[in-house]
Amino acid sequence: MIIHVTDQAGENHELEGLEGWRVMEVIRDWGLNIKAECGGAMSCATCHVYVDKEWLDVVGAPSDEEEDMLDSVGDVRSNSRLCCQILCSDAIDGLKVTLAPSAAKD
Ligand code: FES
Repeated sequence: MIIHVTDQAGENHELEGLEGWRVMEVIRDWGLNIKAECGGAMSCATCHVYVDKEWLDVVGAPSDEEEDMLDSVGDVRSNSRLCCQILCSDAIDGLKVTLAPSAAKD
């Protein structure tokens, strides 16, 4: 499965995802500019991405807990998600996300 990621510099990357991995892990392990400080425990919001509008229904809405965490960042939008909460599967093959400024390493 493939994930299309636009980084904070506007560069597009086509990453190969693995079934069962979190989207955050794929983006991090490919070396893109994502801090993902808590490693997927949903306690940092530094894996913040904007989900492409055409993929919002497929990915689904964030949980209340995730929404609370997203409220702690200044650049939240209606299509914001924490990508450690999105699991790779065939259903999201071709997913398009953009890394939020608040996900940057520094
Ligand atoms: S990596 Fe910390 S909330 Fe996703």
